[in-house]
Amino acid sequence: MKQLAIGVLDSGIGGFSVVKELKRLLPKENIEYFADHARQPYGPKEQEEIEGFVVQIINFLLEKGIKACIIACNTATAAGLIKAKEFFDIPIIGVIEPGAKAAVATTINGKIGLVATEFTVNSKAYHKEIKRINPEVEIFANPCPKFTPLVELGKFETTETYQVAKEYLKPIKNAKVDTLILGCTHYPFLQKVISDIMGPEVKLVNPAYNAVLDLKKILEEKKLLKIDKDKKENYYTTGNPDNMKKMIKIIFNSFKYSIEKVKF
Ligand code: DGL
Repeated sequence: MKQLAIGVLDSGIGGFSVVKELKRLLPKENIEYFADHARQPYGPKEQEEIEGFVVQIINFLLEKGIKACIIACNTATAAGLIKAKEFFDIPIIGVIEPGAKAAVATTINGKIGLVATEFTVNSKAYHKEIKRINPEVEIFANPCPKFTPLVELGKFETTETYQVAKEYLKPIKNAKVDTLILGCTHYPFLQKVISDIMGPEVKLVNPAYNAVLDLKKILEEKKLLKIDKDKKENYYTTGNPDNMKKMIKIIFNSFKYSIEKVKF
């Protein structure tokens, strides 16, 4: 059981922000990563559809051999975490609860900004989690649908990215938040641009770090941590594996992994 991998899923390469933390905090763990590029973006889709994708992908990952799964997508967490927990026996972690907790612990002035997909913002999933922890906190949210395609193209710091980000962040900056949740796993790759626009006094929260810490705790409690160093990483995409290879090279530099195209 300890040898089994951590399953990670996202609509694309956004979940790489979670894999980065996995590599740092749980470096010995095997990884089975699923990117649903063919059906991306998830942001404009309906609850039931996304929920169906989540169940289908976790079933796929279970066949590859996983002992736990991180839904490394805020949209899929908002739409499918509850269903996935009902459906599967293994520990399943989302990114919203850890992100909300980290943001509440960070804010001093009680004003938290949220950038995320349309679905995540409209679901009010972050609002609910934050208000549950501290009902006094105010939340200022703005959906940023153009961010995900920019990240998928590796346009992390282009002029276009700065222009788009300025528009999206304007109302949140005007609200004088002191904390901003990067509520889509793609957005940590835009951290430099977002931070430049928001200014040094605004703290950016990347939920990936806290999500992986939560997973680590669960694996420790269940005595499921992998001990040996012999490690494998397998990547799957419903889209173009060559594009994904390029992004793996840019984000992680080259390392040993396998990549496979999947047809559903
Ligand atoms: N990375 C995803 C998230 O965290 C979704 C991006 C999308 O497919 O719209 O919400």
